[in-house]
Amino acid sequence: MTCGRALTPYSAEAALAVIREHAGLRGPLLPVLHALVKTFGYLDPSAVPLVAAELNLSRADVHGVVTFYHDFRTTPAATHEIRICRAEACQSVGGEALVASASAKLGVPVGSTQGPIALTEVFCLGLCGLAPAAQIDGQPVGRLDQSQLAGLIDGLQASTA
Ligand code: FES
Repeated sequence: MTCGRALTPYSAEAALAVIREHAGLRGPLLPVLHALVKTFGYLDPSAVPLVAAELNLSRADVHGVVTFYHDFRTTPAATHEIRICRAEACQSVGGEALVASASAKLGVPVGSTQGPIALTEVFCLGLCGLAPAAQIDGQPVGRLDQSQLAGLIDGLQASTA
């Protein structure tokens, strides 16, 4: 689940530069917010007071727009995705234990993102003969066990550290 373009790491200085670049536009709030998301991949909540100050708006005004439009995600997008199969064939040979162990290792429930890793469920990957199965960044993995999955998660975390 990579976005395919390089994002700038968030900093207040970089955010201010983006805001000032678009502040002169007519009706600048939405263009500024979109430019921040395009630059950083998400809208860091600490940018809200910067936007408000630069555009002479209240923080509540900016916050209201950010929360109204679903485009403005306020956490970084995941760069890796672990999809674990929860359909019957996988369930019957330990699929649920895989979900539980991945969830415990990442510290988030399935359907959530922890740092750069999204943990999601899928219902059959067409690998029933190799159950339990998962897909890691689009690559199918069969006959997965908990220690192998833990190692894969370690690898993903190390690659983005
Ligand atoms: S049931 Fe898991 S791959 Fe088909």
